[in-house]
Amino acid sequence: MKTCFTPLVCALITLVTHLVAGEPVETIQAANARLGRGINLANALEAPKESEWGVTLQPEYFQIIREAGFSSIRLPVRWSAHALKESPYTIDPGFAARVDWAIDQATANRLNVIINVHNYEEMDKNPDANQERLAALWTQIAERYQSRPASVYFELYNEPHDKLTSERWNTVIPVLLKAVRKSNPYRPVIIGPGSWNSINSLDALRLPPEEHRVIVTVHFYDPFEFTHQGASWVTGADQWKDRHWTGSDAEKTTLRNSLEKAARWGREQSRPIFLGEFGAYSNGDMESRALWTRFVAGEANRLDFSWAYWEFCSGFGAYDPQAKAWREPLKDALLETR
Ligand code: BGC
Repeated sequence: MKTCFTPLVCALITLVTHLVAGEPVETIQAANARLGRGINLANALEAPKESEWGVTLQPEYFQIIREAGFSSIRLPVRWSAHALKESPYTIDPGFAARVDWAIDQATANRLNVIINVHNYEEMDKNPDANQERLAALWTQIAERYQSRPASVYFELYNEPHDKLTSERWNTVIPVLLKAVRKSNPYRPVIIGPGSWNSINSLDALRLPPEEHRVIVTVHFYDPFEFTHQGASWVTGADQWKDRHWTGSDAEKTTLRNSLEKAARWGREQSRPIFLGEFGAYSNGDMESRALWTRFVAGEANRLDFSWAYWEFCSGFGAYDPQAKAWREPLKDALLETR
């Protein structure tokens, strides 16, 4: 800590020091706070091909999201399906142009946008065979977007799992950071723990201590049998029917304990937290889903997490693309909470 005569002098010294060093003035905590309230624009660019999972990005989506009061979009992207399998692993220019377009739309609508690597299933199954390719993808993505404004954030990898264990993931993180930092020394980079970005795996996460411009992300779907009842992609979920969430004290305490665990870890490690996914699938009743969503968003706000709801207009959708209208109970649950 510098010794300063007054807070104003201290702020001025800090500002001048940063400017002289060519470093960003914004702290990583402030960069996380700027993300604020977001929504995942999902099931589009992380599908094997856009439209295959029922969502084709529309220009008006960005405006609708902004006008509702969100400040950020998380844009899941399956880069691995649009790049050469062999070195130099070149990303298909047509696909990259589509991502450029989405970033342009977000920026024009004054939305922050998080670009990630999503659904690189081969990497989860076989990290040894895919690590070099993943790093090459990040070199290309980072170079491509190095001149974009600070409203563009990078997230290294969605939900490591399977053979990409927490331990193995810890060895991949520095390799990917190196690929990104060559062209983007200060851009905030979002990184989550292993086991599907689980809060319970935060203790196993190892981040390079010299890396200060990192936001840590977690995903939250507890109780899973409620949020994923009937989800076709989850084994056994067809057995979970008519699960409700009533917001009883016991239900709230369980959720609060988990989220507070993430907050505690963040404080201890001096890492800001971004709750990058949470949501309840449309098989649940709307009253339960809205109650659950309101509670989780409210807790995230209380704990100073930034967040992004999973997701905009598909199976968890807060927006109904056929009716061209928000599902008001979900939208209110997200945006009315303070
Ligand atoms: C997965 C989606 C899934 C969602 C909720 C995401 O991280 O990529 O496929 O729908 O989590 O389960």
